Amino acid sequence: MKLAGRMSRIGTETAFEVLVRARNLEAQGRSIVHLEIGEPDFPTPAHVIAAGKKALDDGWTHYGPTQGYPEFREAIAQHVSTTRGIRVGPGQVSVVPGGKPILFFPMLALLEPGDEVIYPNPGFPIYESVIRFLGATPVPVPLVEEKAFSFDLDLLRSKLNDRTKLIILNSPQNPTGGVIPRRDIEAVAEMVRDRDLMVLSDEIYSRIYYGEPPFSIASVPGMLEKTIVLDGFSKIYAMTGWRLGYGVMPEWLVDAVSKLMVNSNSCTASFTQRAGMAALTGPQEESEKMVAEFRRRRDAFCAGLNKLPGFCCAFPQGAFYAFPNIRGTGLSAKALADALLEEAGVACLSGTSFGEYGEGYLRFSYANSLENLTEAVRRIGNWLEGRKAPAFIAST
Ligand SMILES: Cc1ncc(COP(=O)(O)O)c(C=O)c1O
Repeated sequence: MKLAGRMSRIGTETAFEVLVRARNLEAQGRSIVHLEIGEPDFPTPAHVIAAGKKALDDGWTHYGPTQGYPEFREAIAQHVSTTRGIRVGPGQVSVVPGGKPILFFPMLALLEPGDEVIYPNPGFPIYESVIRFLGATPVPVPLVEEKAFSFDLDLLRSKLNDRTKLIILNSPQNPTGGVIPRRDIEAVAEMVRDRDLMVLSDEIYSRIYYGEPPFSIASVPGMLEKTIVLDGFSKIYAMTGWRLGYGVMPEWLVDAVSKLMVNSNSCTASFTQRAGMAALTGPQEESEKMVAEFRRRRDAFCAGLNKLPGFCCAFPQGAFYAFPNIRGTGLSAKALADALLEEAGVACLSGTSFGEYGEGYLRFSYANSLENLTEAVRRIGNWLEGRKAPAFIAST
């Protein structure tokens, strides 16, 4: 039996493949520092777990409304309204199992073969995967290190045409840790205001930032009706395994997403939504402490990376990823990432796992202890030294 043709166009996330390779090496007795996976190494806050357990005991174990429980959507609408300085109501909210369905379902609902989608490259690999899967045309726009990983706005403008159906923005970004400045977001809004297209604004890291707060394109007057905001609980509440996320979008698109939900998931787990309610409306100290700790690690880890020969790491402004430029090592990103895993015992991702413009970079997730991050820098340093030595001996 052959798989449907569309399956040849769907991609994947390298992080999970590298994790499997790292685990195999560990099974052979090797020690690996894991900096490949993008999930907080903190527990879900205790009061959220308690709310989830109580919900199970109280019988929140059945189907719920496809769009999500109204009181939960109300709390989300209030949160998004406050944080983005806009007015949205519960009718514009779709609750789904994780952030990813807000990439998948709206794109499934909007894109026809031949439609063009502009997206950041390097970027979260699922963007390009879903675009290709649906037979639409991927139009990558590079993120520029010299612009703190924002876009070249003239280049972005030159990619717009009548076939452009969707633009994907992500800030703070995976994999670069960049935050797109407000003026650039406003410039993008200006470019698309009069065009018949939608913007998918992936704001899953919206509350993990270290400088200026990220700015949502939905906050620009007139843009709300053209924008799909993706956000969720995975990162800020360390709830990756609970599978809980949401989208804010115009009601006509909420209806389409609900139809796709009925056909796939029926609804998001009821007790998980109760836990999400406790997360959003309860104390926020745990999340704040987590972000403060990420900042401490970022400072130490990036300073360490910057001392390594051939490495140059801009300080990321958000998320929990460092994206050093490694061109100075003379190695390709993939060759270096493979060697660091197999020979140095440090698991990280090649920038090219996030698209062709990721060449010359590695992605490290610093969602790991300061001790392990320090050890990773030490191991990489030793490996780079060891690599230099034979060449030096050979040339003298
Ligand atoms: C940029 C970006 N968007 C969306 C997601 C998906 O998040 P979730 O695990 O909630 O589906 C991730 C997860 O790594 C991400 O990095």
